[in-house]
Amino acid sequence: MDPTGAGDSESSGDPPPLGCVNPEAPWLQGYPIPREESLPGDPVIGLEALLTEDYVSCGIPWELFPIAQPLLGTYADGPSLAWREGKNAQVPVGWNVLEMKDGSELVAPNCFNCHSAEFNGELILGLGRHDADFTSDLFALMQLVPSLPALNDAGKAFNKFIQRFAVVGPASIMLTAGTNPAIEFAFILLSHRDPVTLEWLDEPIQELPEDMMIPADPPPWWHARKKASQFANGMSRGDHRGTMILASSLCTDTVAEAAVILDYFIDVVAYLESIEPPQYPYPVDEELAAAGAEVFQCHCAGCHGSYTADGENEYYPNMLIPVDVIGTDPVFANYGANEFNYLEDWFESSFFGTVTELGVTEPFHGYVAPPLDSVWASAPYFHNASVPTLELVLDSGARPTYWKRVDFDSTNYDWSALGWPFEELDHGQDQAGPFEQRNLIYDTTKPGHSNGGHEFGDALTQQERAAVLEYLKTI
Ligand code: HEC
Ligand code: HEC
Repeated sequence: MDPTGAGDSESSGDPPPLGCVNPEAPWLQGYPIPREESLPGDPVIGLEALLTEDYVSCGIPWELFPIAQPLLGTYADGPSLAWREGKNAQVPVGWNVLEMKDGSELVAPNCFNCHSAEFNGELILGLGRHDADFTSDLFALMQLVPSLPALNDAGKAFNKFIQRFAVVGPASIMLTAGTNPAIEFAFILLSHRDPVTLEWLDEPIQELPEDMMIPADPPPWWHARKKASQFANGMSRGDHRGTMILASSLCTDTVAEAAVILDYFIDVVAYLESIEPPQYPYPVDEELAAAGAEVFQCHCAGCHGSYTADGENEYYPNMLIPVDVIGTDPVFANYGANEFNYLEDWFESSFFGTVTELGVTEPFHGYVAPPLDSVWASAPYFHNASVPTLELVLDSGARPTYWKRVDFDSTNYDWSALGWPFEELDHGQDQAGPFEQRNLIYDTTKPGHSNGGHEFGDALTQQERAAVLEYLKTI
C-alpha cells in the first residue's frame, strides 16, 4: 500500500492546483486513505445476485407476506420492478422471493431495502433510502403478524427471523423517521456471534450500552467507483466484501454459508462500482457554475477532489478528516473506537476479518470527505442526515435546530436550496404536543443528531455560496 497517496485508482490522478491561496487548508490535517486494485467481477451478475440470492436467508413466508406488509410499515413497502422475474416482480424492490429446499417460498429482505429510493418520482437503485421510518420496534411489529406452526422450511426461516429481531429490534429503535439503524444492526449482530464459527449466541459477548444512538444515512452507491474506504468513518479498508456481508448477516450462522456469499460478492462489488450518478434534470446557469468551480477548487477540492464535465481524469483524494477538524457529530466516529472498542478485535479474529481490514482509529477517528457527484440527489446531508438542504451545508449558522420534512413525497424537492422542503420548529421532541408526531421532528440537540461542524462554507459570500450550489449541479 502506498501510504502517501490515493494509490492506483483511475479516478485519482494528480491533485490539480488549488488556483488560490488558502492559508487554512484544513485538508493538510487529513489522511488520504490508499485505494486498492478493484476485484475482477461482473456487474450484470452482481445486480442479478442482489435481486435473487439468499444472502439474507430468513424472512417471511410467501403466504404471509401480504398480511405482514401493512403491519411492517416502510420496512416492507416500496415500488416493485416489473422486469424482475417470476414472483420477484410482485414484491417491493427491497425483498427477494427465495425457493427453499422443500419447495416452500420465503420473502427475505435484500440490500435495496435501504439502498434504493425514489427521487423526483423515479426509483433509483443505489440511492440511499431517505424516507424509511425505523422509529418503531420491528420485533413488536412482527409479533402482530399471525404465526404459523413451522411445518416447512419457510416457516422455520420465519421463526428465525423473529428470533433475530427479538434481539435486534428493541435495541435499534431510531428517534427520527428518515434516519437508519444499519450501524447499530451491525454492532448488535456481531455482539451475538462467535467470531470464529459465526454461530448465533443468544447471550451477547458484550452488552451494548443501553443508550446507543447512532442515526445513519445510506450514502449513494455511485461513490463506490471512487472510494477507497467504506462507511462514514472510513473504517472498512481494502476488499470491502467482509463488512458488506457482515451487514447482511442477520441469518448467516456458519462460515460455509458466508464463504458462498463471499464468492459472488466479487460481482456485487463490480456492480456497485459500475453505477453512474444521475444527471441534473434541469438547465444550469453556466456562468454562475463556472464562478462556483473556482470557489470550489479553492475551498473544497482539497478534501472532496476535483471534477470534470465528462467525468474523465477526476481527482479524488479519499481524505479522512479528524473529528475535531470536521466538527460534525462525533458519536459514530468515536463509538467504534471508545465504547465499542472490542469491535476491531472481534472483526479481526472473525471470518470477515480474513477478507477486510477494519481501521476504526487508523490513523485517527474521523469522517471521510465523500465524493460530491450528483450530491443534490442524496439529501438530507451529513452522515447522520441532520441537514435537509445543500444550501444549509454551506451556511452552518442558518441550520435549523429543530426541523421536519414537509412530507415524504419525492417529487416535492426544493430545486433552489437543493434538498427536501422542511418546516423549522421552535421545539424539539421532548416538547412535542400530545397530537404531534414526535418521530417526524429532527431534534439536533439529541445525542448523535448534532448538525454542527463543516463550517467551510461560512466564510464565503452569499454570491459565492450560490455559485458553488450551481456548480454542484454540474458534477
Ligand atoms: C438496514 C439498512 C441497510 C441494509 C439492509 C444495507 N445497508 Fe448498506 N448501508 C446502510 C447505511 C445506513 C450505511 C451508511 C453507514 C455509515 O454511515 O457509514 C450503509 C453503507 C453501505 C456501504 C458504504 C457506502 C460508502 O460510501 O461508504 C456499502 C457499500 C453498503 N452499505 C452496501 C450494502 C450491501 C451490499 C448491502 C446488502 C448486502 C447493504 N448495504 C445492506 C444501510 C443498509
Ligand atoms: C477539511 C475537509 C473539507 C473541506 C475543506 C470541505 N469539506 Fe465537505 N465534507 C467533509 C467531510 C469530512 C464531510 C462528511 C461529514 C459528515 O458526514 O459528518 C463533508 C460533507 C460534505 C457534504 C455532505 C455530503 C453528504 O452527502 O452528506 C457536502 C455537500 C460538502 N461536504 C460540500 C463541501 C463544499 C461545497 C465545500 C467547500 C465550500 C466543502 N465541502 C469543504 C470535508 C470537507
